Parts: sequence; C-alpha cells; structure tokens
Amino acid sequence: MKQPIRVAVTGAAGNIGYALLFRIASGDCFGKDQPVILQLLEIPPGMKALEGVVMELFDAAFSLVHGIEITDDANVAFKDADAVFLVGSRPRGPGMLRSDLIAANGPIFVAQGQALDAVASRSVKVLVVGNPCNTNCLIALKNAPGLDPTCFHAMTRLDENRAKAQLANKIGGLPGDVRRMSIWGNHSPTMVPDYRQATIGGKAVTDLADAAWLDGDFRKVVSTRGKAIVDARGASSAASAASAAVDHMRSWFQGTDAGDYNSAGIYSDGSHYDVPAGIIFSMPVEIADGSVSVVTGLEIDAARREGIDASAAELLGERETVAALL
Ligand code: NAD
Ligand code: LMR
Repeated sequence: MKQPIRVAVTGAAGNIGYALLFRIASGDCFGKDQPVILQLLEIPPGMKALEGVVMELFDAAFSLVHGIEITDDANVAFKDADAVFLVGSRPRGPGMLRSDLIAANGPIFVAQGQALDAVASRSVKVLVVGNPCNTNCLIALKNAPGLDPTCFHAMTRLDENRAKAQLANKIGGLPGDVRRMSIWGNHSPTMVPDYRQATIGGKAVTDLADAAWLDGDFRKVVSTRGKAIVDARGASSAASAASAAVDHMRSWFQGTDAGDYNSAGIYSDGSHYDVPAGIIFSMPVEIADGSVSVVTGLEIDAARREGIDASAAELLGERETVAALL
C-alpha cells in the first residue's frame, strides 16, 4: 500500500464539496491504490454541516480514506498538503457575472495563499475552482511567494468537458473519443473553445461538423453554459464542476493521455502564444510525472487570435481591479 497523500478541500460543506469528497475518497482522482488523508476547511457557520458530511464519508466506509480532519483554520487545513482544491467561496446567482464575485471572493484567496505559503508541501498542486477562478488563482499565487507559480492552476476543465460533450452529441460518438480540444483564456464568456485541432474517433472535427455551428452555437453554448445552468437550476453547476476538478487533478497527478492534451489555467510567463505575462490563462497542456508543459506549435488563426487577445485583455482588467490584493 502507498503512503497516504494529504488532500485539502475548502468549502467542503458546500455543493461542490459534497460531490467532490466522495469521488476523491473512492479513488477516482488519485488512484484506486492511493490512500488519502482529507483535510477539510470551512468557515465557522459551515462547520456543523461539515460534521454531517464527515459522518457520511465515514459511513461510506472508503478503505482509501486514512484520516479526516476538519477545521476553520487554513493553516491547519493546508499543513503539508500535497493537493489542494480551493473551492470555498460565494457562487453567483441569477443575473450576476462571475467577475461580480471578485469583491466578495478575492480576499479569501489572499489569506489562503498566505496559509499555503506557510504550511503546504513545497510541491503542492493547488487547483482554484472558486470564481472568478483565473483571478482568484492569481491572488493566491501572488500571496504565496515561497511556492513556485507552477503550483497553481485555475480550473477550465469543466469548459473542456462541456465542449467535448457538445461535439460528441452533435457529431455522434462519445465525449471520451474527443481529443485535442483546447480552451484558451478566462473562465468567462470570453473563453475561446478551440476545436481546430480536435478529433473524434481519430477524425478531424472540422471535417465532421459545419463551420457555422462550430463558430456559432457551439462556441456560444460552451462559453455561456455556466449561466444557463444558474438560470435553470437556480444554483451554479456543482456535480459537473466537481467531476471536472477530479479530472483536472487526476491529469495533474497521473499525466495526460499519450497523443492528447487538456486545458488548465496556468501562470503565463509571456513566452507562449503572445499571451501577456502575469495572468492566469487557460492553455492546452501536456503533463508527465507532475510536470506541466504548454503544447507548442499549434496554429492560431485570425478568429482565435482575436478571441485570445480579448480574453487576455479581460484578465488584465481583472488584475487591475484586484491590484491591492496581489
Ligand atoms: P456553495 O455556496 O454551495 O459552497 C461554498 C462553501 O464555501 C460554503 O459551504 C461556504 O461556507 C464555504 N466558504 C465560504 N468562504 C469560505 C472560506 N473563506 N473558507 C472556506 N470555506 C468557505 O458554493 P459551490 O456551489 O460549492 O461553489 C463554490 C465556488 O465554485 C463558487 O465560487 C462557484 O462560482 C465556483 N465554481 C467554479 C466552477 C469552475 O468551473 N471554475 C464551476 C462551478 C462553480
Ligand atoms: C460554471 O461554469 O458553471 C461555474 O463557473 C459557475 C458559474 O457561475 O457559471
């Protein structure tokens, strides 16, 4: 049996937390042979509900769970953590943009960045889910100067999964047959779902679906799906978000599939695809042995270029808004 890894989840009593914890505990994320110690963070009003979630985790009798700690202190939750899901934060409601959450949620990621800096493993993998996730990720990263910027990702895997599901539904086939589907930019309506290298069952998506749909409804549905779910459910996506978080962390720990890549919001150093330095920008990445590299050499046509530049401009604006937190 492997040594357990320490996995911290914030907002553990929330909607995403409730879906996420059971997937982690069952081995879907870190492997069926990888024990975990769960270190769960909530704010004081959430602690009672979290106790109930822990009772359920206990009752599910997961053999991979070698310990569960609950706390309202980030310095306790993140102690020696190998993997951290930063979920805890306010979700948007109907009529709101994700960026409307910056004022409420930004400060959370200052304190949590500082706590990660102080106590987490130096090779910790931190996935920011709480919205607006790219800019919250930047806030956490900037408040953790002792950690390498590569320790921090923002989640755009949900957007990638949504794109794969739409393509498979339209063309025929399974979402898992779709490969090389990229999401560029911000987790916001300015994101660029780039299907141009994507294949399904080994065939180019561009040969199987018409261009008007790909550049029209496909892009619109993927980039505004979060709002559509909020409008329909009265609450933001939770189980699909948890599933994407599991997918993201699994790829980060176990690697991307040969010949394929996935999308992640990573810290741009300005050296790839003319994306400005100093923002968290989603790009296609390959991962091997925990090391993440941007997929290079992809052709960016004029329409994608325009979209990437617009999304970068939006993120530079968000960075300006939170300058006091960085
Ligand atoms: P929720 O309200 O159901 O749960 C959030 C939980 O976080 C609550 O239990 C709350 O008590 C806790 N919390 C608040 N502040 C905290 C703090 N400082 N420390 C620890 N815990 C704290 O919300 P949810 O549906 O779980 O969504 C959580 C976040 O995830 C939202 O910001 C939402 O917009 C975002 N989200 C992101 C994506 C994505 O693709 N990146 C997808 C879905 C949702
Ligand atoms: C999503 O994409 O579903 C989440 O970011 C939640 C939201 O507010 O859209």
